[in-house]
Formats: sequence, structure tokens, C-alpha cells
Amino acid sequence: MTLEDEKPLHVIVTAGPTREYIDPVRYLSNESSGTMGFAIARAAAERGYRVTLIAGPVHQETPPGVDRVDVVSALDMLAALKEHFPGADAIFMAAAVGDFRPAERFEGKWKRKEEGGDGTTLALVENPDLLATIAAEKGARKVIAFALETADGEARAAKKLITKNADYIVLNGAAALNAASSSVTLIDRKGVVWKREDRPKSETAGRLVDLLT
Ligand code: CTP
Ligand code: CA
Repeated sequence: MTLEDEKPLHVIVTAGPTREYIDPVRYLSNESSGTMGFAIARAAAERGYRVTLIAGPVHQETPPGVDRVDVVSALDMLAALKEHFPGADAIFMAAAVGDFRPAERFEGKWKRKEEGGDGTTLALVENPDLLATIAAEKGARKVIAFALETADGEARAAKKLITKNADYIVLNGAAALNAASSSVTLIDRKGVVWKREDRPKSETAGRLVDLLT
């Protein structure tokens, strides 16, 4: 056996929110804590996978044995994915990517109108779909997407699975935000694979890493 054969499988995990700056001190972001993505990275590293964790701005400790790449915006995350995904074997796209960013970033603080500012309307542009972009060329590699839905969860998640070219999608309810446990439905191309009601994210993370084998 060559050294090459012994190399552990390389898994990419994205986690946390992205942050889209309006000016030097203000930004658009979302409620993601990064807990699920970090738990998956930890569980995968514990099982001997080589793990690259691409993390948005979060307050989380890097799990032992995990290579962490910190990013801020959705476009930063896309650049990191383009660098690391081509050499990887699977991806868990747990990050809560911002769908919009300000059309421009003001050099100085955005001022109120009476101070000579631009007014009260913030122009936005759409961020690219990071997962759809990189998964278009995934080949046989496993792609696990995530979705947080507030209504029609299973149907909407199943649709996203197809448009993003994923093999699985992990559906969370909004109660999962910032919590240590969550209710999760795993969906593949044929439908629901399993459901876990109000289980610790660390335990669900282990079940998700099982998808790699
Ligand atoms: N995702 C992504 N790039 C984006 C938005 C989402 O890669 N610009 C990924 C997320 O990391 C997740 C999956 O796509 O794995 C689903 O994210 P979600 O926000 O539920 O889907 P959207 O397509 O953005 O749809 P929605 O309008 O419901 O937010
Ligand atoms: Ca979204």
C-alpha cells in the first residue's frame, strides 16, 4: 500500500453566518451560531477524517485536529471553497450564507440625511449560490446541504436538494437557531431518510458523519 492509499478522506465543512459589510462598522448577517457545523467537524476529525472547516464569524473553539479557515463574507467563503473543494472528497454545507449583500460598501460611516448622507434606502445585490456553484462539478463526491425552513419544510428542502445538486439535505426548524439541540429531518433524492426530534446537535453530527461511509 502506498502512502497515497493511507491518506484519510478529506472533508470540507462550512459553518456559521456570513457578514456583509455596509460600512466599516455595520453589516448584514444572520442568527447562526455555527454549533452544528463545528460539531460535524469535531465528529469527523474524531473518526480520522482530514477536516477543513470554513467558518464565518462565530464564537466557537476550533475542534482538535481540524484545519480552520476563517472567512467574513459570502464571496470570501466562495473563494475558500474554490480553493479547498477541488482536492476534497465530501462537503457538509452547514453555513448560513447571506443571500444579499449591500450593492456598495461605504468607505466612511453611512450618514443620516441631515448629516449629508445617502438617505434611508440600502441597495442590495444577490450573493451567488455557493453550494450550487461548487457542487455543479462534484462528480461522485458526497454533498450534504442544509436548510432552515419556517413553512413547507420537507417540500422546500427537497427542491433545494435538486437545484443545488446535493445528495442529502438536512432540514432544520427555526427552533434550531442558537440552540444546543434540534429537530432534524434528513432527506435524499427518494425522500425522508430519518427524523430526529429534539436531539443534541453533537449526537446528530455523528449520525451525519455516518453518511460518508
Ligand atoms: N447556500 C449557499 N449559498 C447561498 C445560499 C445558501 O451555498 N447563497 C447553501 C446553504 O449553505 C445551505 C443550502 O444552500 O446548505 C440551503 O440554504 P438556504 O438558505 O436554506 O437556501 P436558499 O437557496 O438561500 O433559499 P432561501 O430563499 O429559502 O433562503
Ligand atoms: Ca438563504
